[in-house]
Amino acid sequence: MAEKLIDTEAEVLENRFISGNLWLMRLKPLCKMPAPKAGQFLMLEVSPTYDPMGRRAFAVADFDEKSLWIYYDVVGRGTELMSFMKPGDITRIFTHLGKGLFSYDARRHLLVGGGVGLAGLTLFGKELKSMGKDVVFVYGARSKEHLGMVEWLEKEGFEYILYTDDGSEGKKGFVTEAIKEFGSEWCISACGPYPMLKSLVKLSEETGHEVYLSLESRMACGWGVCLGCVVKGTNGKFMRVCYEGPVFKSDSVRL
Ligand SMILES: Cc1cc2nc3c(=O)[nH]c(=O)nc-3n(C[C@H](O)[C@H](O)[C@H](O)COP(=O)(O)OP(=O)(O)OC[C@H]3O[C@@H](n4cnc5c(N)ncnc54)[C@H](O)[C@@H]3O)c2cc1C
Ligand code: FES
Repeated sequence: MAEKLIDTEAEVLENRFISGNLWLMRLKPLCKMPAPKAGQFLMLEVSPTYDPMGRRAFAVADFDEKSLWIYYDVVGRGTELMSFMKPGDITRIFTHLGKGLFSYDARRHLLVGGGVGLAGLTLFGKELKSMGKDVVFVYGARSKEHLGMVEWLEKEGFEYILYTDDGSEGKKGFVTEAIKEFGSEWCISACGPYPMLKSLVKLSEETGHEVYLSLESRMACGWGVCLGCVVKGTNGKFMRVCYEGPVFKSDSVRL
């Protein structure tokens, strides 16, 4: 892996419920480290014991001079334990993981996030903006209370379009629909549930958009050893999401 991986203790600076299932955790790494790149992720120790086993993977959603930010949904035992962590608590992170990252080439970028998948795109949006590129976020969720990352989009001053399944906020329907409103010169980067990514790729075959996918397979080790996260490439070879990914061009991977 080109980047140096970092395994370090980290102090919880903030752990705040936002809405729906969504929480924001800010972690101060207890060692010096280079700035993370958009698309990279970390593995967080959710418990100092073996219950539950293993660390959990989260996108580095943002960072500031003191801390790395992760937005997380409480979905199971590991993330539930995270929600009990308090400022001052010390945990461990294994970070700057992933070497397959987004493409910056296009002038215009549509960033499509399903639910907490938006956290896999936020840092990329910031980098694109700082390069003077056109950036529009499309953010979809089940209902209004599951759109908790709107506060981040507002704070950073991004243009965004909202979708909800039930129409309680923004447009009623699926985020994938949005791509029909943007010409094929817009490069699409997406992160979210696999069914969403599948239908986005299918639609892009009709609209002619170039698409990059940030995949969130279940992971055990996070650095290419256990083979627990593999996906099949269109060339028939298996690829590790944690190592060759987590971002892949849509025509290189079979979902
Ligand atoms: C590279 C990467 C980046 C990620 N970034 C984020 C993020 O920024 N924010 C966030 O909230 N989550 C993110 N995830 C998913 C996160 O790792 C899982 O939600 C978490 O591990 C669940 O742990 P748990 O112990 O609470 O749930 P478990 O008890 O392990 O599982 C609870 C439920 O969640 C499902 N689940 C667990 N892991 C995944 C997964 N990877 N994809 C889909 N369903 C899963 C299980 O099938 C089960 O239904 C990311 C995953 C990867 C691989
Ligand atoms: S999580 Fe172990 S190889 Fe990817």
